[in-house]
Amino acid sequence: MYRFITITHSYLMEKLVQDELFPISYNNIYMRGSNLLIDRRSFIPKREATCRFQIKPQPPAIFTLDTNAMKIKADFDSVDWSFDNNTRLESRGVHPYPAKFIPEIPREIISILGVPKGTAVLDPFCGSGTSIAEAQRLGLKTIGVDLNPIACLITRVRTGPKMPGLKYLAQEIAQKAAQREEHWRPQNVPNLEHWFKNSVAQCLANLVKEICISAGPIFDDALRLSLSRIIVRVSNQESDTRYAAIEKPQGNVYRQFVLAAEEIEKYLELRSWKPKPEPEIICHDILDLTAKNIGQQVGLVMTSPPYPNAYEYWLYHKFRLAWLGWNPTEVKRKEIGSRSHFFSSNPHTEFDFLRQMRGLFSLLKTITVKDAHAAFVVGDSKIKGKIIDNGALLRIAAKENDFNDVIVYPRTVASNRKAFNTKYSRAKSEQILVFKRR
Ligand SMILES: C[S@@+](CC[C@H](N)C(=O)[O-])C[C@H]1O[C@@H](n2cnc3c(N)ncnc32)[C@H](O)[C@@H]1O
Repeated sequence: MYRFITITHSYLMEKLVQDELFPISYNNIYMRGSNLLIDRRSFIPKREATCRFQIKPQPPAIFTLDTNAMKIKADFDSVDWSFDNNTRLESRGVHPYPAKFIPEIPREIISILGVPKGTAVLDPFCGSGTSIAEAQRLGLKTIGVDLNPIACLITRVRTGPKMPGLKYLAQEIAQKAAQREEHWRPQNVPNLEHWFKNSVAQCLANLVKEICISAGPIFDDALRLSLSRIIVRVSNQESDTRYAAIEKPQGNVYRQFVLAAEEIEKYLELRSWKPKPEPEIICHDILDLTAKNIGQQVGLVMTSPPYPNAYEYWLYHKFRLAWLGWNPTEVKRKEIGSRSHFFSSNPHTEFDFLRQMRGLFSLLKTITVKDAHAAFVVGDSKIKGKIIDNGALLRIAAKENDFNDVIVYPRTVASNRKAFNTKYSRAKSEQILVFKRR
């Protein structure tokens, strides 16, 4: 039996998730039963006009805050989430990474939500490891997953032991590298001559070889990260985010490598907490993992997922990946949200993101303890000019997998702290979504 209901557009946009009807974007409404995406414009000619929907009768789902949620809301209210005045000391980090957390965001969220005794904090999209570092700072067990090997390398170094002597070892390696006579070129750096001067490519190749020979297991990651830090600077690439080859001063490659090692050594020396417990870092597509791979009980999920059509982490690190022996194309293929998937002959849509988030939540369901919280910091996307409410999609996936809504909290993004390219997103604000495992 069906009935008609009258619904206004603002009702659609503001009402929280109901059983059958989810506003996904300004123009789209998702109907769970039929798996249909309905274009609002076919119903509502003007923004505030009313429309009539045919839906199955159901008591209206009213979003009431229980005591737990009310406490969380009060705690969230006491924080200024814009962090306009944060010191940025740790934000600068050991290595550049796009769309990384301001450390205060996971720090506050973890403190507010808490973690049941004996369980771990999981970031399934850990990127440069901000939430992992913040959880470690609180002495918590942590698991970080990321598809991108550069992300995992940064996280391992950032949460690993201090590296006294790193600078001296880097100097030694640079000296030996400078004496190498053999001419070796990496096979997998795309269009090498276009992006790297011959002399620069030779120095980088020498450093790669010498690190393999002389680094040893303790310093290997930190030395590879030192090399990764300088790749874009010594290439012809205009900047981290501009993909034009230009004439620019590259400086002395060996000297820059040593300076990068010195900076990393200093960062670890100045870190204000003991790097314990050691995190478990899994470099893998999260959608291919099982509970067995994670191997621990998770009491809190703290993450910011990759958005559809927003960033390209693989592209940002393309040359770093290639020089360090990884395959950027392989990372691109599995990267959730990568813009390349939206320009292919069979372009992705918001439903691909929904499918991926369903995959994620079906894993979370198997590894989280009862009452575990899952916090997602997420903004909107723009796909072919259409604004997509990623938060609404996450809530569908969560609800289907035994996670209840607790709170949806808006966060204004400081103007000087845009996490997104505004061409692809309107992200002046983000939402913090908190779910609780049933
Ligand atoms: C918004 S970033 C996370 C940034 C992180 N919060 C930080 O502070 O650096 C999203 C991350 O998701 C990762 N990612 C994309 N697709 C993935 C997949 N299929 N499996 C695991 N990680 C993936 C990207 O490599 C990227 O590092």
